[in-house]
Amino acid sequence: MATAFSPAQIMKTNASDLLRDLDLTDDELLHLLDLAAEVKQSPRDYARALDGKSIALLFEKPSLRTRLTFELAIKQLGGDALFVDGPIGVREPLKDVARNLDRWVDGIVARVFQQATVEGLAEWSAVPVINALSDLYHPCQALGDAQTLREHFGDLKGRKVAFIGDGNNVAHSLMLTSLRLGADFAIGCPEGYTPDPDIVAQAEGLAAVSGASLLITHDTARALAGAHAVYTDVWTSMGQEQELVKRKKSFHEFQVDDELFAQARPDAIFMHCLPAKRGEEVTDSIMEHRRSAIFDQAENRLHAQKALLLMMLS
Ligand code: CP
Ligand code: NVA
Repeated sequence: MATAFSPAQIMKTNASDLLRDLDLTDDELLHLLDLAAEVKQSPRDYARALDGKSIALLFEKPSLRTRLTFELAIKQLGGDALFVDGPIGVREPLKDVARNLDRWVDGIVARVFQQATVEGLAEWSAVPVINALSDLYHPCQALGDAQTLREHFGDLKGRKVAFIGDGNNVAHSLMLTSLRLGADFAIGCPEGYTPDPDIVAQAEGLAAVSGASLLITHDTARALAGAHAVYTDVWTSMGQEQELVKRKKSFHEFQVDDELFAQARPDAIFMHCLPAKRGEEVTDSIMEHRRSAIFDQAENRLHAQKALLLMMLS
């Protein structure tokens, strides 16, 4: 059976690495999402695309979804995944780690505490480096989320995504990706937990180009008004555990429960990158809501990352 994307039709990314969401151009992002939809429909058509390629997964932090979906994606595309956990650049300098890997593998997927660590790996290795979550970004999550949003709403122009909670890595990537795809984006967060100002400046630039609107507010009702998707994430991210008590207090009013969710559109979907802390940022009833899309998001991590690997490595 003919595929919609023959190898020759798969667009190679201009960027050699995916360290931040904006490393992909708008065209590359749209192509990736089309390819992800195709790969989801006909996975067997891409079973040999990474034949003979080995990819190292370096994880400084725990993971269920990212690790398994990358390992599965690589295997289902015919490649080999090699997993290593633990701190990067402690036993030996980062630049030595990068240049060792360079001699053995065709790509590196890294989950790190500091954005500087993925940047360093990319600087010192010639093979593509993919950011599998840092303190600033979670670009692979945003790709699966964009695929999920498109499955529910088609073209995202004129749609609204509301993020309730911490202006964190997941919020940053979702903000950049939603605005780029033409969706309005609002974040409702407590004072002191707004997104990073440099990333907000990038987002404002994207909004000016796409015509979408960006709202950063401490008023959840304003963030939720007219929203097609309501997204939240944990209040305390990995690496912030010492702030747990303070954060629980600060975020008290920002739990996505039935009352908050009802302030979005009546057909709004609920989204969460997972893992979730039920009873903190979200209630059990919203996690289990019939309009909860959380497991679609988790599934789409696999397809979106396959598309990314095809564009960077095949
Ligand atoms: N959403 C996400 O990245 O999940 P993991 O931390 O389990 O990889
Ligand atoms: N913001 C969370 C996302 C986990 C997938 C964290 O960084 O821990």
